[in-house]
Amino acid sequence: LMKRSSPAEHRPLLCSETTTTTATQLCAAALSSKQKHAKEVFDRLDENEDGVITSSDDLKTILRDLDIEADTEDSQALFRYLDNNEDGEVDVEDFLPWYTDAAAAAEEVAESFQELLVGRRTVEEFDETPVNDDVLRRAVQCAIAAPNRRMSEPWRFIKIGPETVEKFAELNAKMRKNMETDGGRSSIVDWQKVPGWCVVTTKLSPGDAEAELDDFKSTSCAIQNFMLSMWSDGVGSKWTSGPVQKTQEFADLCGVDTSKERVVGCIWYGFATGGTKYADPRRRKKTVDDVLSSVP
Ligand SMILES: Cc1cc2nc3c(=O)[nH]c(=O)nc-3n(C[C@H](O)[C@H](O)[C@H](O)COP(=O)(O)O)c2cc1C
Repeated sequence: LMKRSSPAEHRPLLCSETTTTTATQLCAAALSSKQKHAKEVFDRLDENEDGVITSSDDLKTILRDLDIEADTEDSQALFRYLDNNEDGEVDVEDFLPWYTDAAAAAEEVAESFQELLVGRRTVEEFDETPVNDDVLRRAVQCAIAAPNRRMSEPWRFIKIGPETVEKFAELNAKMRKNMETDGGRSSIVDWQKVPGWCVVTTKLSPGDAEAELDDFKSTSCAIQNFMLSMWSDGVGSKWTSGPVQKTQEFADLCGVDTSKERVVGCIWYGFATGGTKYADPRRRKKTVDDVLSSVP
């Protein structure tokens, strides 16, 4: 009955205070481009350039080209609605205000999606409550929707159970003991208390470095989708890639054949201690203007 607060409830502003553009301005800018695009699409169907269309089929085509789902019945109903004076014509001046309202509603969805995306943070500390496997399955569903080269779908996701985590922890302790710099200090995070572990691998292509790199990029996209899906479910995550994961023992424990695939990361996931709003509030040092340039 008690609903955990979702990250969406404590979203940061879409744009940092150091930039002059506000989220609302961005939204208005996107809307203005959409209006121009709608005019372009309308004009394409208006072959005799008189500013009107005369069939609901044309309206259906326009809606489709503008990514608005509408069947024949919907298009006919909208045609009748927009044809104010019932003369069998829909004027571009009638259509554009209607489209602007529809696009503004879609912008709200886009804006909250972007805020969710910008609001994701790496979570450093987890409560011990296990996360339902449905959350994991949904995250993998989102992960495998990532863009990938030639549909190679080079990824694999391995859920790690407590017995294996215990072996990882032993391996970690052994490696830390051997590391002079560390002086045998134990890990800051108690691995066995991290509720969710998912190891992600990418396909190797011996002899084809380019394909392998592209597959690696694709798998990285998939991991980002995975973490965003979890975040949208109110579950925090952390992509880890420490020395333990680079060992053959680690791969063996995960059942990874290192002649065919490579571990890209190990994702820890769980409910953030103190709630996701207390996740590390690090922000990027660089702004959009620092990293975005253009050439004519
Ligand atoms: C490829 C990759 C490997 C990472 N490996 C580690 C790691 O081994 N240990 C760690 O503490 N964080 C690791 N991180 C998390 C980064 O430290 C974190 O993403 C970064 O500090 C930015 O914070 P944010 O995710 O909250 O934006 C890794 C992130 C990526 C993308």
